[in-house]
Amino acid sequence: MEDIVSLCKRRGFIFPGSDVYGGLSGTWDYGPLGVSLKRNIMQLWWKMFVEERDNMFGIDAAILMNQKVWQASGHVDTFTDPLVECSNCNARFRADKIDLARCDNCGQKDTFGEARQFNMMFKTHVGPVQDDSSISYLRPETAQGIFTNFKNVVDTIYPDMPFGLAQQGKAFRNEISPRDFIFRSREFEQMEIEYFVHPDNWQAEFEKWITAIYAWCVALGLPTDSVHELEVEGLDRAHYSQRTIDFEFDYPIGREELLGLAYRTDFDLGNIERVSGKAMQYRPKDGGEPFTPHVIEPSFGLERAIMAVLCAAFTIDEVNGEKREYLKLPAVLAPVKIAVSPLLKNKPELITKAREVYGLLKKEYGNVMWDDNGNIGKRYRRQDEIGTPYCVVIDFETLEGEALDTVTVRDRDTTEQTRVKISDLIGQLKF
Ligand code: GAP
Repeated sequence: MEDIVSLCKRRGFIFPGSDVYGGLSGTWDYGPLGVSLKRNIMQLWWKMFVEERDNMFGIDAAILMNQKVWQASGHVDTFTDPLVECSNCNARFRADKIDLARCDNCGQKDTFGEARQFNMMFKTHVGPVQDDSSISYLRPETAQGIFTNFKNVVDTIYPDMPFGLAQQGKAFRNEISPRDFIFRSREFEQMEIEYFVHPDNWQAEFEKWITAIYAWCVALGLPTDSVHELEVEGLDRAHYSQRTIDFEFDYPIGREELLGLAYRTDFDLGNIERVSGKAMQYRPKDGGEPFTPHVIEPSFGLERAIMAVLCAAFTIDEVNGEKREYLKLPAVLAPVKIAVSPLLKNKPELITKAREVYGLLKKEYGNVMWDDNGNIGKRYRRQDEIGTPYCVVIDFETLEGEALDTVTVRDRDTTEQTRVKISDLIGQLKF
């Protein structure tokens, strides 16, 4: 894990939040490569779960919502973690994550009293008056933005049942102990789907989502034998769920939750109906009985996905007797798709041709990097380290002789180099 965190910082993927002022616990900033990786994951998700399906629709709701949302959803009363404080050093911990016999911070024994429930929502006030009526919260899940728009969507596009609404966006939780790099953060991103079904069909639809989740893991490049299902029992389930499977991944920090799949019944739509007084029923197009849909919720944490992708991709091997550390990322996720280099930096004729090829590829693929620093071996190592699938090199053979107008294309994983015609590059390099 340390190697991965260090690579992320050194190469500009992920930095500690507010680093220059000593940081802010549980927050992380994405640098140029990190933001590209993050967006590639988000785009892939959107493509797989929204664009490639015909019964999925996107929404983008506000982060700040009327406080009634969080009262009705049960978050004001029950979105809590048990908090304990050491009476010797005053360090605070999440009670269910530590050994309560001895304080991890000061080493003293039996210093923890009773746990108290700590609400994880960040509270704020909307507008200049700070009274109870102006309270709002930074949303702790994106899901409520979907539920509150259920009726808007049904009334405007009247989709067939079953259908799903998908959203990507920030969520905030005042975690008692943020930890393990981006794994448990206070500000993070979720990609959530609320899939509305007839109550009689929830089990069959739930099973289909299990299959879809494995397809997602494969697309991320995660080995399926590193992904595990944990059936969450009874009181361990969130207050809204009648069935939950946590999909766990074998991270270097241990087997931990990657994403969740929950059967939320009609809990949320029912609460909205009760508190707002507005009907949340769906009227079948065939004239059948109106009903309040039930909901299957696949909930994907983006940071957990990024961390799993980085951990699965991080590879150490040996090339020509030298140790090499690289990211074996699926090409679709790689922040830089191709690096273009002139073999030598001080030969104007090579540079002119290389710039031409660079321009051509950049126009087609966008994320193409110009790299003329150091010798070619060092460039390959640098590109391998950030997961660039291909390095294209313009050398003297490109300029004259039998191999005129060809370049070498070097493959990140095999390190093999092949000569390809410049005019064939775009047909051959696929992402
Ligand atoms: N709407 C359902 C929901 O929010 P959850 O299990 O509390 O369910 C869903 O969260 C996913 O969000 C988790 O599986 C995880 O991937 C991600 N997540 C939750 N808390 C997180 C945190 N503090 N930091 C990073 N990701 C988190």
